[in-house]
Amino acid sequence: MANVLKPFDWLLGRFSVDMGIDLGTANTLVTVKGRGIVLNEPSVVAVNRDTGEVLNDGQAVGEGARTMLGRTPGRVRAVRPLKDGVIADFEIAEKMLRYFIRKAAGSNTLVKPRVVISVPIGVTTVARRAVIQSAERAGARKVHLVDEPLAAAVGIGLPVAESRGCLIIDIGGGTTEIAVLALAEAVVAASLPVAGDEMNETISKYLRSAHNLLIGELTSESIKINIGSAWPLEQELEMEVKGRDSITGLPRTAVVNSIEIREALKAPVEKIAVAIRQVLEQAPPEISADLVDVGAVVVGGGALLPGIDKAIQSQLGIHTRIGDDPLTAVARGTGVFLENLDVYSAALASDSEN
Ligand SMILES: Nc1ncnc2c1ncn2[C@@H]1O[C@H](COP(=O)(O)OP(=O)(O)OP(=O)(O)O)[C@@H](O)[C@H]1O
Ligand SMILES: [Mg+2]
Repeated sequence: MANVLKPFDWLLGRFSVDMGIDLGTANTLVTVKGRGIVLNEPSVVAVNRDTGEVLNDGQAVGEGARTMLGRTPGRVRAVRPLKDGVIADFEIAEKMLRYFIRKAAGSNTLVKPRVVISVPIGVTTVARRAVIQSAERAGARKVHLVDEPLAAAVGIGLPVAESRGCLIIDIGGGTTEIAVLALAEAVVAASLPVAGDEMNETISKYLRSAHNLLIGELTSESIKINIGSAWPLEQELEMEVKGRDSITGLPRTAVVNSIEIREALKAPVEKIAVAIRQVLEQAPPEISADLVDVGAVVVGGGALLPGIDKAIQSQLGIHTRIGDDPLTAVARGTGVFLENLDVYSAALASDSEN
């Protein structure tokens, strides 16, 4: 029923710039029908601390705002409206979405877009509703939600519609989503609030306790990206880190190496591995048998941590590989759903009428 488009819908569809949105804790990506990914920006907004209004300049949303994290001057606050994969600040999320939707639509604003937005698996109805409402208030005509692991799997071209099971692990900024998919559905899944952000926090705590150095979020992320790893590197690395001495309070530099950072990252990596193991333990035996052949695929920004595939493989004993272009997998998947909206609209998890 829902997959039959009414003539009027069809006509609107011809004129609107329909979009797929990966609304992530760390990054938001927008795909547009026929054009691929048109926007890829950090999910950060700069707001006026007194009025709560989004700053009125070109740098207020996205990359410009991200560089303000942890170093905002008195009146300005850099806000990340999503936490652990879900909207934490409804108003700011709506403003951010409005900005991104407008930017992606360009001059084509005659008809409001239909959007497909990915959400973490297993989020509450309230959280889903929040995504739908903020997208509608941000200018969407109709909102469809799709589960992130399914979007990721479709995005990297896994044959999700087959009965054979596959295991997808999406390590993002706020959450790690783990799902065994078969016949385009999650057979077993879990979502845990341990991903890139927690890795950054772990590094920051480590620097504080081992080097008496206080560092901000951007610095700990750059340590992770530059010298972080989950498995021994062929050539271990070191890096100069600047921050504030926790005893003297003065600016200082410390040299840290990849071995100590890997040791610090062991805890979050281990938590992720344990959660994957728990998901696998719940999979039906036939599907487990498939996974022995098919293996696991890791996507999301966390997939770029060197050796994460080896660390997971050594814990689980099944072949684990990194999905191609892991940071854009979910967004590309929302794009595929978008292209086939007429076919999928009945299957898409939820929409604005719910
Ligand atoms: N080379 C790298 N090594 C390790 N981590 C990385 C690397 N590059 C990016 N990341 C991390 O990936 C995370 C962002 O990934 P991604 O864009 O998939 O998250 P997200 O989709 O916004 O979040 P979520 O899916 O949890 O809502 C950040 O924590 C970032 O630090
Ligand atoms: Mg994500």
